[in-house]
Amino acid sequence: MTPLPPFHDDLDAALAQVWRLLEEGPALRRNAFHMPALATVDADGQPQVRTVVLRAADRAAGTLRFHCDRRSAKAAEIAASGVAALHGYDSASKIQIRAAGPATLHTDDALAEAAWTGAMAMSRVCYGADPAPGAILPEGHAYTLPDAETALTLGRPNFCAAILRVARLEFLYLDRRGHRRAAWERADGWAGCWLVP
Ligand SMILES: Cc1cc2nc3c(=O)[nH]c(=O)nc-3n(C[C@H](O)[C@H](O)[C@H](O)COP(=O)(O)O)c2cc1C
Repeated sequence: MTPLPPFHDDLDAALAQVWRLLEEGPALRRNAFHMPALATVDADGQPQVRTVVLRAADRAAGTLRFHCDRRSAKAAEIAASGVAALHGYDSASKIQIRAAGPATLHTDDALAEAAWTGAMAMSRVCYGADPAPGAILPEGHAYTLPDAETALTLGRPNFCAAILRVARLEFLYLDRRGHRRAAWERADGWAGCWLVP
């Protein structure tokens, strides 16, 4: 039987493991936290969820970054509610992570500019979609995307970097010998506590 991982009964090690997985997420395509689910609440109070690419995780600041089109429903929902949550489950390590907190959209500041500059040409093209994301089409192909060069000017105004400032982090580790669940909150200095799984 494989030995239990060091974080099995160590809250600090569990928190470190959570951030390790999140920080690896943006670079590692096979990591489940490369493409977490983003949850928001819409104007009718209804939950909405979809996949996004995790672009950056910063343990020191306790933030997670993803990108979206400012014309999209998710951007409107974040702007209106000011909150969001991200979720991922990594079947290889059997770890689920949930992160929730206030979220902000960055469109015209240095953060947005750096994120846009760092984005791949292929990704930038999506922000030049016409009509806007979510618009009803008469046929599936009835929209256009700019070429990479045109996307630089056409896509940039629609691009935004979203920052989730994590207020609460939750971890669930599955193991036949005993599941482990823990949560940490920014408000109490990330002290953390174990929870019944
Ligand atoms: C693998 C994958 C990665 C995606 N990454 C993003 C992303 O990083 N940002 C984004 O806005 N949408 C991304 N999408 C599309 C969204 O999941 C969603 O379908 C779309 O943005 C419309 O969402 P909304 O109407 O709720 O705004 C991704 C979809 C998939 C399947």
